[in-house]
Amino acid sequence: MNKIIPGTLLAALMTGPLSATAADLAEQTYGRYVDQQGGISLPQDARSSWPHLGSWIVEDPDAPGHGFHDVYTQPEAVQGYREKGVFPDGTILIKEIRSIESGTKTTGQAQWAGEPQIWFVMVKDDKGRFDSPHWDKGWGWALYEAKDPSKNVSTSFAETCQACHLPAESTGWVFTEGYPTLKK
Ligand code: HEC
Repeated sequence: MNKIIPGTLLAALMTGPLSATAADLAEQTYGRYVDQQGGISLPQDARSSWPHLGSWIVEDPDAPGHGFHDVYTQPEAVQGYREKGVFPDGTILIKEIRSIESGTKTTGQAQWAGEPQIWFVMVKDDKGRFDSPHWDKGWGWALYEAKDPSKNVSTSFAETCQACHLPAESTGWVFTEGYPTLKK
């Protein structure tokens, strides 16, 4: 038998199928949703095809985040997080904000989500791929509005996102306490 086993093959044999899945995730993300310059595009089909991580509701109409917040990610990202406690390279987190509708239902006074208004997107980058103000702290950061979902309207991570995400720094800049799907 050949004594020389290539390093990548050896790594695959030792860590099992998950590492193949994780590599596919990064390949898909950086092939499909991120261009050569680090421009991020909003995945269109997350709500119908990706696992739902959890929801937040900000009821105060004057609050900056007023609305229903639903967070989605790829199935491989959920699997990777459950196994290792960190999001794998290529994870995409999408937070969709929708308006709050309300009325009386047979369940009681109910609130539900209306039309999408804004999407916040984070893309995990373990390799420091881009020298860009939208890529920092191991993530790409982007923001899209319903009136033109093809345009990232975030100025930069530092100006648009950092201050608000600081409380989540110790959990990889993600508010993981709101995501029951990540728990084993
Ligand atoms: C006004 C404060 C605020 C700003 C500005 C902000 N975020 Fe957040 N973000 C939060 C909070 C708080 C949560 C979780 C709770 C919630 O949604 O109410 C969150 C959640 C998220 C999530 C879901 C995953 C997670 O981290 O829990 C994504 C994705 C996200 N933000 C991306 C961004 C990006 C990208 C920017 C900049 C373009 C940004 N956010 C700017 C406060 C903010």
